Order: sequence, then structure tokens, then C-alpha cells
Amino acid sequence: MNIKMVDLKGQYDKIKKEVDFEIQKVIDNTTFINGPKVNEFSESLSNYLGGINVVPCANGTDALQIALMALDLKPGDEVIVPVHTYVATAEVIALLQLKPVFVDVHPDFFTIDITQVENKITEKTKAIVPVHLYGQCVDMELILEIANKHDLFVIEDTAQAIGAIYTFSDGRECMAGTMGNIGTTSFFPSKNLGCFGDGGALFVNDDDLAKRCKMIANHGQRIKYYHDIIGCNSRLDSIQAAVLDVKLKYLDQYCESRQNAAKFYDELFVGVGAIQTPKSFSNSTHVYHQYTLILDDGINRKEMQEYLKDKGIPSMIYYPVPLHKQKGYIQSDSNNSFPVTEKLSETVLSLPIHTEMTQDEQKYIVSSIKEFLKL
Ligand SMILES: Cc1ncc(COP(=O)(O)O)c(C=O)c1O
Repeated sequence: MNIKMVDLKGQYDKIKKEVDFEIQKVIDNTTFINGPKVNEFSESLSNYLGGINVVPCANGTDALQIALMALDLKPGDEVIVPVHTYVATAEVIALLQLKPVFVDVHPDFFTIDITQVENKITEKTKAIVPVHLYGQCVDMELILEIANKHDLFVIEDTAQAIGAIYTFSDGRECMAGTMGNIGTTSFFPSKNLGCFGDGGALFVNDDDLAKRCKMIANHGQRIKYYHDIIGCNSRLDSIQAAVLDVKLKYLDQYCESRQNAAKFYDELFVGVGAIQTPKSFSNSTHVYHQYTLILDDGINRKEMQEYLKDKGIPSMIYYPVPLHKQKGYIQSDSNNSFPVTEKLSETVLSLPIHTEMTQDEQKYIVSSIKEFLKL
């Protein structure tokens, strides 16, 4: 079997006609940059998310950077982030001469350990960046409570969880990325809503803040050649917007396929005690950007990966080196121990999951894992 971590070709084949038609339209109009399709897609996405302002940009990393710039944080200000995340979350903080303050994650849910957040707040703390890692929302009710209490901004990193729904204790449902001051996402091809290159967006409730984000993404200008604030060049191009506008129509279906695949994996792993399957919060749906296992200490992960690879089964480690141990991010603070993340970096393993997954592929993957474990 030729199993892929993500089957973008299979997904494209099913919507080829629509996608090719829309791409061709952009080519025919030659409206490659800032064309009407970018606004159309932004409006479609805004409707999907419940009406929030959508500011498109060039990628998910830029979205985070623009968010921090728009909130006018100053060098030395501290921003709280989970230590178990993709580097982009912390990278932009450091890039703007702010200080990333790492917090360990929950051992079962992989997302920021909310019980540890308040301990990390100082008079310099200005923002928290909860990351909806692997596809489910952080407990936003608690995050927002802490943020309100300490007057902090909240930037939700939704790169891995677009389409997930969080339910507050009063029954209110919100889409991932729409609950904080700003939500950011990535349209990297393998993301749940991915384009055919790079792309990203910010979700902003406050109209003035949305305008500011839009200006920053466009060289700080509202009127061409009048640069009121310092910005950057971060555009979603029209071809990517055309692809995304088609794929957005299928996003719920894509999320459902991933959820079904995850459910089937869960069933296949029943009784395999040495492997912990992903646990989901009761107050968030999970859109399974990743299906990430935790392996028991006794399992040699490297050997298991090699064994699977030889059988045509890819697997990935998100993330092999925790941020606080990355050379570019080592901090000298004494309060710098993150045992959960350190353990996860040695024990997590993500299996293939995507919209085109078949049950036969999944049976083959899990039976190969059981074979390796001699079960
Ligand atoms: C959690 C998280 N944040 C940010 C990003 C950055 O997105 P991009 O690659 O579009 O810059 C990613 C992408 O992998 C991500 O997974």
C-alpha cells in the first residue's frame, strides 16, 4: 500500500473541475494580487466563522506577527505560549523583540496547561497565545477568564484547528479562532483548509483592530503610498484565494472525514494498552489535523517508525525537540522545566490522517503496529 500522511492529490481529484475553473478565471483576468477573489474568499470565510472580520495574509506565521504588531506590544513585553507547539508561535514573538514565556502542556490533551498560566504572569505580561494544537480548542472559557482578570490580549493560534467548535458553559458555541482578540490561521497545503501554496488569515472581532491588521499586512497603508504605520508585505494571492473559496465549501465534510477516520483508529486500537489514543475535551469538537498517539516508555519509537516505513506507512513526530531546548530559543531562566513536553517529545507519534483515508489503509496501519508490538 502507498499510504500518505496527507493525500492532497486524492482530495484535489474530487474537486478538480471546480478548482481548475476558478484558477483559470484568475489567470484570464490577470488579477493575481488583490483581485476580487481575495475579497470573495474573505467574505465566505467570515460567513463560515459567524461574521467575524477576516484579514487574509501570506501565511500563518505572518498572521501571528501581524496580530502582535497590531496589538502594539513593545520590546520586552512578555507573551505566554505553550512550549509544545510549532516554532512559528514563538518565533514571531522573539522576532518582534518580545519575550516568549513558555508554559508546559496538559499530558493528555497536548494543549497549554491552563493551571500553570497564572504562575507565569508578571507585570510585563501582555498577551497569551493559546494554540489549538492537533485540532481541538484549548479551554477558552478559562483562558478568557485569566486574560480578563490580568488585562491580557488573547491571540488564538488556529493553524491546526479551523472548523473546530468550542462550547462555553452557558451553551454558546464559537468557531475556533473567533473567541480571543485575534485568531490566526494557516492555509499551508496540508492544513485542514489548505491552498496550493502559502496562505494565512487573521480573524478579528473589533472593526478598528481588523482595519489595523489589514493596514499592517499592506505596508501600513490605507491609501496607496501613504504609510501611516509600520507594516509588512503579506498578501494572500488570488489563485490561493480561488482554491480556498472552493475548498471552504467542503471544510465541514473534510472535518467529518477526519473525525470518522479518528473514530475508526480509536476502535482499532482498543485493547492495545501500550498506546494512548488522542483524548478530546468535552467542550470542543476535534477536527484531527493530527491523530497523535502517546507510546509507552517500553516502545522504541525509532524502531517502530522504521518498521512502519518499511511497510509503506509514514509517521511523524510533532515535535521532536521542545522549543525551550531549541538552540535559538534556549532561555537562561531558572523556572524552565517542562517535564510533560519533554516526555511528549520522546513519546508522541502522529499517524496518517486525511480526508481520503480508507478503512483498509487504517486496518493495515494498526495491524502493522500490532505486529511490531508482537500483539
Ligand atoms: C500551530 C501552528 N502555528 C503556526 C503555523 C505557521 O503557519 P505557516 O506555515 O502558514 O506560516 C503552523 C504551521 O505549521 C502551525 O502548525
